[in-house]
Amino acid sequence: RKRERNIASLLRERLPKEIFTLLTDIGELGRDRGLAVYVVGGFVRDLLLHQPNFDVDLVVEGDGIAFAEAMAKAFHGRAKSHPKFKTAVVVLSDGKRIDVATARLEYYEYPAALPTVELSSIKMDLYRRDFTINALAVHLNPERFGELADFFGAQRDIKDRVVRVLHSLSFVEDPTRILRAIRFSERYGFRIGAQTERLIKNALQHNFFHKLSGARLFHEISLILGEENPLSCLRRMQQYKLLSAIHPLLALDTAKETLLTATDNVIKWYRLLYMEQAPRIWLVFFLGLCSGLDDEQFATIANRLGFTKKMLAELGSLRHAVRKTAHRLYNWEYLKLPVSELYFLLNGLSLEGLLYLMARNPKESIQKHISLYLTKLCDTQIEITGEDLQIMGVEPGPRYGRILRAVTAAAVDGVAVSRERQLELAGRLARGEISDEPPVWDAPEA
Ligand code: CTP
Repeated sequence: RKRERNIASLLRERLPKEIFTLLTDIGELGRDRGLAVYVVGGFVRDLLLHQPNFDVDLVVEGDGIAFAEAMAKAFHGRAKSHPKFKTAVVVLSDGKRIDVATARLEYYEYPAALPTVELSSIKMDLYRRDFTINALAVHLNPERFGELADFFGAQRDIKDRVVRVLHSLSFVEDPTRILRAIRFSERYGFRIGAQTERLIKNALQHNFFHKLSGARLFHEISLILGEENPLSCLRRMQQYKLLSAIHPLLALDTAKETLLTATDNVIKWYRLLYMEQAPRIWLVFFLGLCSGLDDEQFATIANRLGFTKKMLAELGSLRHAVRKTAHRLYNWEYLKLPVSELYFLLNGLSLEGLLYLMARNPKESIQKHISLYLTKLCDTQIEITGEDLQIMGVEPGPRYGRILRAVTAAAVDGVAVSRERQLELAGRLARGEISDEPPVWDAPEA
């Protein structure tokens, strides 16, 4: 039974004006072309949940690709189509992307098919989706603008705060939905419905996970690790024995839990700084999830998750760099070296590496040093360039790098902050009055 409701006023009140106008324009275009157009999925779910989400996904009853091309023309954008899936992406002039899908009866080869003749194509499209809360559509054509199409009790489930599949084969068709169920339930504080939970357990018992490609698994895992609360998702995964189903090496133990809790705190701290540079949060958690693994074990996990050689190499060297930097950081502290040496030490590590380094070194002073680097030192810019050295007559060669390094050190240590002082220092270094050799503690490791 379909529950009727019109949410036009909700759309008008909740959405930024330009998004609302975009939706009405799309609806008018649908009317002009004689097609029913809907906005579907996460956009509608989040609208009803009062969560900001302006990723517009459209479903067209008719030729979605042709409609996307018409949209591109009408809104001065571009359309990129994927004929195999009868989908397209419209990229508007401001860079906004809109996904357009085709709902067509003949398109579905559905194992659990209902008597298809009784279904409209939008209903069929929604029935293929993962959870009831994601299976909502809103009419955009002017004569029906704002009409909510809720065929599967989504509004009730949103009210009851429950994640439910639409049919019993959902996880068989797509086991990544098990991870999605956990992700949505943790994100919104929803429970997973009893029958849905039984289906999850059943799917896990039958090892459906083994059939999944590494790339798809990894995609879902990185989405989980990028959520507001990855740790609670990971704990849920552990409860369902999902982590060890993916690979036994990924299972949580006390040490890993402690480290992931520390990671969580570091990420929360970093978020509060409102820094310009946004880290890949999934990566910081992923390093934590793989803590305690040696290189060979890490390669095993990378292999299960379908990493490319390049990605394995990148993450592998990041793990090494973190370990080496941790070691040197303790030396830096122990030897009471100047702040500039902290700068050079941490300058070589990516933001993700730095945050992970903070998480895995709970010693308060170490955390303070990294924090000092992230909040102050890392922005250090010297006021002179190689051009100034050229004017001084320094011969091109490795001395440039050494002199600029020494000037940078003086700037970080606060002894040569202005351009005048830096030029003066550079002059003395260039004339050999003071050595431009980097200090010995910075000598490359054998
Ligand atoms: N979907 C699905 N099965 C999947 C992935 C996606 O049925 N394995 C459907 C869902 O109905 C979802 C839609 O495709 O609403 C779009 O997918 P996605 O963009 O991943 O979902 P959102 O709901 O937008 O999730 P998020 O808020 O995390 O972006």
